[in-house]
Parts: sequence; structure tokens; C-alpha cells
Amino acid sequence: MAKTKKTPGGSQGVNIGISDKDRAAIAGGLSHLLADTYTLYLTTHNFHWNVTGPMFNTLHAMFMTQYTELWNAVDPVAERIRSLGHPAPGSYAAYGALASIKDAPATPPQALEMVRILKEGHEAVARTARSVFPLADKAGDEPTADLLTQRLTVHEQTAWMLRSLLED
Ligand SMILES: [Fe+2]
Repeated sequence: MAKTKKTPGGSQGVNIGISDKDRAAIAGGLSHLLADTYTLYLTTHNFHWNVTGPMFNTLHAMFMTQYTELWNAVDPVAERIRSLGHPAPGSYAAYGALASIKDAPATPPQALEMVRILKEGHEAVARTARSVFPLADKAGDEPTADLLTQRLTVHEQTAWMLRSLLED
């Protein structure tokens, strides 16, 4: 029996009708989405803890809704990467290297600056999700396209809500 070469994360033996090259490219794109989602989750939870001022009640509650949604979103993204036969990144070092958005500021900003940072974060995650679409489309990867559609809907809607708080 011929020896099969093992690849990290158990990528060998995945025979789902998507080429190795396409699976690697899509998993790579989803790893950026996972890192962005996790980073935005942590920043949102940070702001839930540290927000102050007259809008405290509104923002404390709104940030909780948002971080809960983001926390629930990391799992399907990571498990889609696994379904494509690749390891899912899950460390602060990996996320720091992969994320397109900055870590939360060391000192808590003013309430409306928090809103601005989160609005930019949701827009950035939307751009990352959108950039993976052509790869999924080309490979006929419907589950990834479906996941990306769901994530884009949430990030674009949340960005709109946050943007509205910044307008007069
Ligand atoms: Fe809380």
C-alpha cells in the first residue's frame, strides 16, 4: 500500500469535489475572517465592561447583544475551515497576525469613540468576508458562500446601527 503524506490538520483524504488548492485558498480566507471576528468580539466585550457616560445603559446592553452574536459566530467559521480539511487558528498570536482590525485600545476610549471603533470594525470584517466570496464562488463552495452571506448581513446591519448613533 502506498504511503500517503500527512498534512497538518488532517487535510489528506478530503474528497468533497473541491480541489486541494481551492480548499486551501478558502480556508486561508476564512482564517482571516475568524481572526477578525474574534478580535471584534473581544473589543466589543471590553467596551461592554468599560463604557461610561450618559449613554451607559444603552451602550452596555447594545454591546452585550453584539458580543454575544460575535461569540456565536466564531464557531461556524472555525468549523467550516475544519470541514475543508485545514486547521482552525485559535491563539492570540495567530489572530494578531491574521486580523485586519487593530486590538482594542489599552485605555478605554470615550463612549462615542467606542461606537466609532466598533462601526469601523464591522465594516472591516464585512470587507474581509466579501473578499472570500470569489474564492467560494469559483470552487462551487455553497456552504462557505452561505456562511459568508450570513456574516455579511450581520456586519453590514450592525455597522448601520452604530453609524446611526454617530449621526445627528
Ligand atoms: Fe455583562
